[in-house]
Amino acid sequence: MRVGQLTSSGPGLTRYQFVTALVANGDAIRDGLKKGKAVPFMQIKEQPGAFGALISGIDLSQNLSAETRSELREQWLRHQVVGFPDQKLSVYDLERFAEILGDFGEDPFFESIKDHPHVAEVRRAADEQTPLFAESWHSDWSFLQTPPTATLLFGEMIPPHGGDTLFANQYAAFEALEPSFKAQISALQGIHSAARGYAPDGLYGEADEGRTMAIRYSPEAYKTQCHPIAKVHPETGRTALFVNPGYTVGIEGLSEDESWPILMRLFEHQTQQDFIYRHHWDADMLVVWDNRCVLHAATGGYDGYDRLLKRITVTGLPEGTQALSQ
Ligand SMILES: [Fe+2]
Repeated sequence: MRVGQLTSSGPGLTRYQFVTALVANGDAIRDGLKKGKAVPFMQIKEQPGAFGALISGIDLSQNLSAETRSELREQWLRHQVVGFPDQKLSVYDLERFAEILGDFGEDPFFESIKDHPHVAEVRRAADEQTPLFAESWHSDWSFLQTPPTATLLFGEMIPPHGGDTLFANQYAAFEALEPSFKAQISALQGIHSAARGYAPDGLYGEADEGRTMAIRYSPEAYKTQCHPIAKVHPETGRTALFVNPGYTVGIEGLSEDESWPILMRLFEHQTQQDFIYRHHWDADMLVVWDNRCVLHAATGGYDGYDRLLKRITVTGLPEGTQALSQ
C-alpha cells in the first residue's frame, strides 16, 4: 500500500498496515513534520526556477480527507503549477480532484468525452500534420467573462520525448515591470477574444483539416471580454499580469496604434526566460495550474508518436472559500 492512502482509507486500515506505512515512509513523515505541513507524508519537490512543484506520497485515486484536500489546495496556490507523478486515475478520479479547486468550468470550443460533459481530450496522432495545438502563450479561455481558475491535465499517452509544457509566472512578470509602466498598465483593461483560434476563419476553424482533437469552432469566438491587465488574484491578493498573446486583442479605450506597442511590450516581457518553468511529462502524471497567475504554451518534438491527455477546467472557488476583498 502507499502511505497516501492513510488519509483516505482511514478506518479501513488495519493496525499492521498503518504501522507498516509509517515505517516505510519514516523519512517523508519526519521531513513533513519538520516543515510543519498539515499532511506530513506529502513530499513536495520544488522545481528549478521560480515556481512549480511535484507532489508525491499521496494516492489521488482515493477519497481524500478534508485536511489533505486543503493542503493540496494550499500547495497549488503557493507553487502555481503542481504535478503529481505516478497516479493511476480514472475520469471519475479527475472529476473528484477538480472539486477540490472549484466548480466545473465551461469549455466553449471543445467536444467533451462521452458521459463526462466537463472532460475533454487533448490529443494528437503520430502522423498528424496540423499546426501544433496551443503553441502560443495563453491563459485558458481568458476571453470568458469568468475565465477558469484552474486547469487539470492528465497524461495518458505520453511520447518518450518532446511535448513539454512551458509555464510563465505572471506574478513575477508583473513585479518586474518598471514602476512607471506598471502604473500605466494598472489602469487599463485588456480586450480578450477567441477569434484567432476558434472563429470559422481562425487557426482551428474551417480550413483546419486532419486534426484528431475534437475542436468545435464557432462565430461565438468573435465575442470580446475585458479584464484588468494587472489583475489581483482573489485568493492570494498578489497582482499578476493578465494579458496573453493567444487571446488579448486590444486595450479598452485605446486605438490599435496606441494599444499594440503596449501589448507587444507586455507579451515580450511576460514570457522571458527568467519567468519560465519547463514541465516534462510522464504517463500517469496529473498537472494542475492556476490560470490566474500563469501562462502556458505547448511544445512539439514528438512527431511519430501518439499523445493523449484528459483535461478539465475549473471555475470559481470551492464551497466555503472566501475571495479576498479587493
Ligand atoms: Fe491551454
